[in-house]
This record gives sequence, structure tokens and C-alpha cells, in this order.
Amino acid sequence: MTVPKVLFICLGNICRSPTAEAVFKARAAAAGLSAHIESAGTSGWHVNEAPDPRAIDAGEARGYSFAGQASRKVTRADFGSFDYILAMDHDNLSALSDICPDAHKFKLALFLDYAPQLSIREVPDPYYGGLDGFDIVLDLIEAASDGLIKAIEARQF
Ligand code: 4NP
Repeated sequence: MTVPKVLFICLGNICRSPTAEAVFKARAAAAGLSAHIESAGTSGWHVNEAPDPRAIDAGEARGYSFAGQASRKVTRADFGSFDYILAMDHDNLSALSDICPDAHKFKLALFLDYAPQLSIREVPDPYYGGLDGFDIVLDLIEAASDGLIKAIEARQF
């Protein structure tokens, strides 16, 4: 059976997109949706590193697992193999658009496009901010995850 493949993208792949991977894995499973879920960064600055301990602490406090995650940089092959390639902010989206083959550009979107009820369109980078930034990231990602699940279910993969 074909399952939808979802790739979450941020800059470092240690804060926001690993959180999206962890949250979406849990919420998709809870909704009975089978999916292949990964995350990657537009930079290679933290390749092979585990997610940021602050992201892990905030996520685990809500019951999410980051087991097995290690940072990687997005590759050209990703554009062919994934169905949804979802960026956390406009900078990420623009960096993806620069390297994505035209035939796959329709797969690119902002993750928060799946939470149109929110007043913001970007998941703010929490890396240099305070700890509450990681809870804001989780709130936004939980909302967008539920919207994405509904969108995927409507496409009937
Ligand atoms: P992320 O956060 O893109 O959500 O993983 C960042 C992680 C690292 C850096 C910036 C943002 N950095 O400058 O190293």
C-alpha cells in the first residue's frame, strides 16, 4: 500500500522540524493514518546531531518521542520521493524553491498553511530565544498537524 510521505523542513533540523516530525508521527498514529514521516534542514550546520535538548524537553513534556532522530540536510532526491515538503518559515520555503526541480514545486508549502485559523504563517525560530519559544512551536505544530491529517485523509492515499 502506498503511504503518503511527509518531509518537514527548518533551518537547522534540530528544533522546529524535529518537533514537527515527533508531533506528526504521534498525531497521525492516533488518527489511524499511516504515513512515512521525516525531517531535514536547509543548512547542514548540525548534521548528525540529535534534536536540541530544549526541543526534546518541551516535546517530551507533552508525550512526544524524538527517538532515533538525527539532523540531516535536505537533498535533491527528497523532492522526488516525498509528497508533502513543508517549510517552517518563508526563508526555508524560499531556500527549497531555489533547489527544487520545477516538476515537484507543487509539493512545497508552509506548514502553517494547514492551520489557516491561526493568525501567523510561520513557526518562529526558537533557537536564540527563551524556553517559552519551544512551547509556542509545539502549539503551532499541533494545530497544523491536525489540519494536515485532515488534508491527507481527504486525498485518500
Ligand atoms: P531550527 O532552529 O531551524 O528550528 O532547527 C535553528 C537551529 C540552529 C540554528 C538556527 C536555527 N543555528 O543558527 O545554528
